[in-house]
Amino acid sequence: MACHLLLTDFTLPLKTSNLSHLRQQRKARSNGSQNVPTTVAYYGLKTPPYNLDGLEPYMSKRALEVHWGVQHRGFVDDLNKQLGKSDILYGYTMDELVKATYNNGNPLPEFNNAAEVWNHDFFWESMQPGGGDMPKLGLLEQIEKDFGSFTNFREKFVETALSLFGSGWVWLVLKRQEKRLAVVKTSSSINPIVWDDIPILNLDLWEHAYYLDYKNDKAKYVSTFMNHLVSWNAATVRMARAEAFVNLGEPKIPIA
Ligand SMILES: [Fe+2]
Repeated sequence: MACHLLLTDFTLPLKTSNLSHLRQQRKARSNGSQNVPTTVAYYGLKTPPYNLDGLEPYMSKRALEVHWGVQHRGFVDDLNKQLGKSDILYGYTMDELVKATYNNGNPLPEFNNAAEVWNHDFFWESMQPGGGDMPKLGLLEQIEKDFGSFTNFREKFVETALSLFGSGWVWLVLKRQEKRLAVVKTSSSINPIVWDDIPILNLDLWEHAYYLDYKNDKAKYVSTFMNHLVSWNAATVRMARAEAFVNLGEPKIPIA
């Protein structure tokens, strides 16, 4: 199976989320000449690391065609439209863009689309054909250390997913400061990287993620994800990278 993990650089210093310096740069350029070409940011639609029918029968080709091909593509297209209006947000990695547009809890208009692009890229790579089963090696040991057992973790993940009110996501994250794993839920498009957590897994809990295959049976969708779809291979790689950054004592990414 092809594996194209989303490369999240947890160590990059974040450009300030105060965009005033960028606005000043743009103003200075525009004052110089009316004919200065504008270079704006543009992000492409990433392809899932499997064919669109690769997750059947647990997630149908039709569901992927709509969820990835329409919903996810829509977030990318809408983000690019927003970014095309000016060059203020040019030159950011997707991580940086999400953190910068979160704007310390006062999100800029671009935040929702930027975060949803990030979340969906990560979500496709959180699943694999023949997924499910259990994590192995270091990740399993860390889960057992932080949750008591894999069974406890699984119960916590499912319970947290089903307790989310409205649309959002459930995540397994590594808490950078506490150096422990935790299950967190986020509303709407919020991504835990804005709080400096390091995502290991996520599950889309927007209705568009499961309605075609599971109608209103969110519980069956969540249990199917755990039993047949979750990619512990991807999670293990992410955990290894995250642990390396945390153990190396990288400085906390400045949000302000
Ligand atoms: Fe989604």
